[in-house]
Amino acid sequence: TAEKTSVLVAPTHSVTRREREVVNGHKAGVLWLTGLSGSGKSTLAMTLQRRLFEAGKQVTVLDGDALRTGLSKDLDFSPEGRRENIRRSAEAAKLLAESGHIVIVSLISPLAADRDMARQTIGEGFAEVYVSATLDVCEGRDVKGLYARARAGEIPAFTGVSAPYEAPETPDLTVDTGTESPDQSLDRLLTLVSDRYLV
Ligand code: PPS
Repeated sequence: TAEKTSVLVAPTHSVTRREREVVNGHKAGVLWLTGLSGSGKSTLAMTLQRRLFEAGKQVTVLDGDALRTGLSKDLDFSPEGRRENIRRSAEAAKLLAESGHIVIVSLISPLAADRDMARQTIGEGFAEVYVSATLDVCEGRDVKGLYARARAGEIPAFTGVSAPYEAPETPDLTVDTGTESPDQSLDRLLTLVSDRYLV
């Protein structure tokens, strides 16, 4: 009948997150790495990604520096620019998680309110990781020479120098790259991933 035909043609057969998780053999979610510039977020994100990829997991990194050359190219480091950068990154991370990926987001994301927004947007599978290192440690490393430039007044609103960083109060994990070795921090991240996503 006409009614039956319309029922048959109507379905969109979308592939669900759950189906993807079953095929992948692990849950999807977003590990949100927050911390000062030079705290080690990007390095940890990349080494963690490599380990998970080699173990056959579906994994993607969204890194602040990289996003700011593309998706967030038009944004500055004002509070509004950062908030919009975090909003876009959270939406992108959510799409990837819905596609079954373990997404590692590496953003300074200095304000608790903005990180809360990301948590709300992403929902299921969100975990906040505080990549902790004191300003002294980060400034001492000054890998990109940005702290020196910020102190010289060449970079306005530089996080930790002339713009705020609010440390997470109840992160799912804190890794202290000032006192732990990179391998120790990586191991602790792998434990979190295993507890949350590989069950
Ligand atoms: S934010 O606050 O989450 O939107 O920042 P994010 O997108 O992670 O970008 C941080 C990187 O941008 C460079 N950079 C600055 N950081 C902080 N403050 C100011 N004013 C600034 N200007 C440029 C810097 O290289 C950051 O990279 P990381 O990897 O964090 O060191």
